[in-house]
Amino acid sequence: PPFALFLALVTGYLSGSVPFGLLLTRMAGLGDVRSIGSGNIGATNVLRTGRKGLAALTLLLDALKGTVPVLMAKQFLGMEAAMLAGLGAFLGHLYPVWLRFRGGKGVATFAGISLGFSWHVLLPFAVVWLATAAVTRYSSLAALIASAVTTVSLFYVGEAALGWLYVLLTAIVFWKHRQNIQRLMSGAEGKIGQKG
Ligand code: G3P
Repeated sequence: PPFALFLALVTGYLSGSVPFGLLLTRMAGLGDVRSIGSGNIGATNVLRTGRKGLAALTLLLDALKGTVPVLMAKQFLGMEAAMLAGLGAFLGHLYPVWLRFRGGKGVATFAGISLGFSWHVLLPFAVVWLATAAVTRYSSLAALIASAVTTVSLFYVGEAALGWLYVLLTAIVFWKHRQNIQRLMSGAEGKIGQKG
């Protein structure tokens, strides 16, 4: 029913819109994470404060806010609702009403949503992200390659409906990383953990 789908989208959005990176760094007395490094509210930028534990917690919570609404919608409302819940959570993280629609870049939430669908979706994302990050030390490049590979892999295994959602998510990830892409091309992108 349309109402259930709408409910999934809105619930997902509200979950995704909680800016954990901003809240955790503020609670830790580190000021506004948006005034350091890339200015992003995600785990990569929280790591630039030097606080590894806070960065890990940001990654975990930003992921879970995608996992939980997808799992709940899948359980109670079905696959279509789960896809809308995932889209909602993703848009909530990237465009939170509470921060005048200026949110994060969606990588942790992308991973969390993927886990909500299946660990089969999270696995290629995590493996490609970790491998690219290990080799290049660029968090942004790892995210770009991992999201693209995950999307292609969904079509490869015949999950076309989910694949199209991932085309949209990946396009938005690339759009949100447009400054990172420019910095990668000019050699100015900061490496993981490097303050800047
Ligand atoms: O997770 C976001 C990452 O891909 C880039 O973050 O802070 O380097 O722009 P940042």
